Amino acid sequence: MKTLFPEGFLWGGAVAANQCEGAYLEDGKGLSIQDIMPHGIMGAWTKEPTEDNMKLVGVDFYHRYKEDIRLFAEMGFKIFRTSIAWSRIFPNGDELTPNEIGLQFYDDLFDECHKYGIEPMVTISHYETPLHLAKEYNGWTNRKLIRFYENYVRTIFARYRGKVKYWLTFNEINSILMAPLMSGGIMTPREELSAQNLYQAIHHELVASALAVKIAHEMMPGAMVGCMILGSPTYPLTAHPDDVIKAMKKDQENYYFADVQVRGYYPRYLDSYLKEQGVKIQMEPGDEEILKNTVDFVAFSYYGSSCESADLNAEVGKGNILGGVKNPFLPVSQWGWPIDAQGLRYLLNQMYDRYQKPLFVVENGLGAEDHLVMGPDGELTVEDDYRIQYMEAHIREMAKALEDGVELLGYTSWGCIDLVSASTAQLKKRYGFIYVDRNDDGTGTLSRYKKKSFYWYKHIIETNGQCL
Ligand code: BG6
Repeated sequence: MKTLFPEGFLWGGAVAANQCEGAYLEDGKGLSIQDIMPHGIMGAWTKEPTEDNMKLVGVDFYHRYKEDIRLFAEMGFKIFRTSIAWSRIFPNGDELTPNEIGLQFYDDLFDECHKYGIEPMVTISHYETPLHLAKEYNGWTNRKLIRFYENYVRTIFARYRGKVKYWLTFNEINSILMAPLMSGGIMTPREELSAQNLYQAIHHELVASALAVKIAHEMMPGAMVGCMILGSPTYPLTAHPDDVIKAMKKDQENYYFADVQVRGYYPRYLDSYLKEQGVKIQMEPGDEEILKNTVDFVAFSYYGSSCESADLNAEVGKGNILGGVKNPFLPVSQWGWPIDAQGLRYLLNQMYDRYQKPLFVVENGLGAEDHLVMGPDGELTVEDDYRIQYMEAHIREMAKALEDGVELLGYTSWGCIDLVSASTAQLKKRYGFIYVDRNDDGTGTLSRYKKKSFYWYKHIIETNGQCL
């Protein structure tokens, strides 16, 4: 099969600071919400950081990034997506003056990328709100967060304007619906959080995101700023119109974030939804004007699809935060997440039809248990054919979407090096092309080993996907 990846297609990989850096208190970094979440999204959080929290050490990327970027360069990465840990720059989040050592770390990291011709892509906020902002202000429920975020983006734009072209404002912004603490720094437990406070918090994030786009365009001509949504298409479980309408409603619940960020105003369908919930969003003068600063491209993560059904007894499925009803036609991963490569082609088409903006797949991959074995050349490796199969199927579907006419800027697979899982806080749920010797009990040397998929991905990039 001849694939259609355009010249300059941005192949690469993605991580987030809190899942790989470690060094959670080093060089002036403040605590982030992740430092008190040892059990992942749904688990209870702790008062102080505890030793069983795998993220405190992560995979020690903070100290080993040079070795890791060299390995990414060996695979031929064109782009590397990471996040800036907000609390490295502003330890509490509400200070006026940044932490210089934190800023210097990312300077060095981006320089290291450029040394190999790798373009950095930065997620400004990836599930790592400074803990102080969560405790003191209840995260994004408080409008003051817009000001703190503005100060943070002005600082990092001024500092990295010559080094970073691609920016994402909030990771998986729609995940706040299910995970208000991880996604929005909101301490009120999900079941106690009123719809009013939830949708007000979302409004604050949407205004902050549009403000970041405005400031980026003013300060960094040529910068490309994207929204980032958790992409998961919803299928009706059956052809019954009740199921079809339920699936449509579920999609709208998610799409509205990107609708605002791409179109610059709230969609009409949201009015009736908010009315039903008794929500009245408090807008300040000027908010509507700010929202008109729309993104340059639409980025999303893709791990699978889900279903909706009008039947209340339909079996609930698992998946990347959003859940939904189980699709009987799809196999699942070891963690129960549905595997649906064709869903990626479907989603790319849906998004492109809806927005007519360039798209970017900024996360996709298979979380699986890996085992080190002795390779044919006497080096330790992982025979991860299951991962290769998963990724190959998804990349083929991207190629088909390109053939369908979709405009796609690039692909950064998730967790290009093993890191700590966001949902379960485990390290044994591995995504990488590079194995890191660290176990969930904290043991391990932190040494890096190339998996079989490392060489496979290198070949994909070398041939710009033509080898498929
Ligand atoms: C996305 C997040 O939801 O999925 C990442 O942006 C996360 O932070 C990834 O790691 C995979 O999920 P998990 O729970 O397997 O780590």
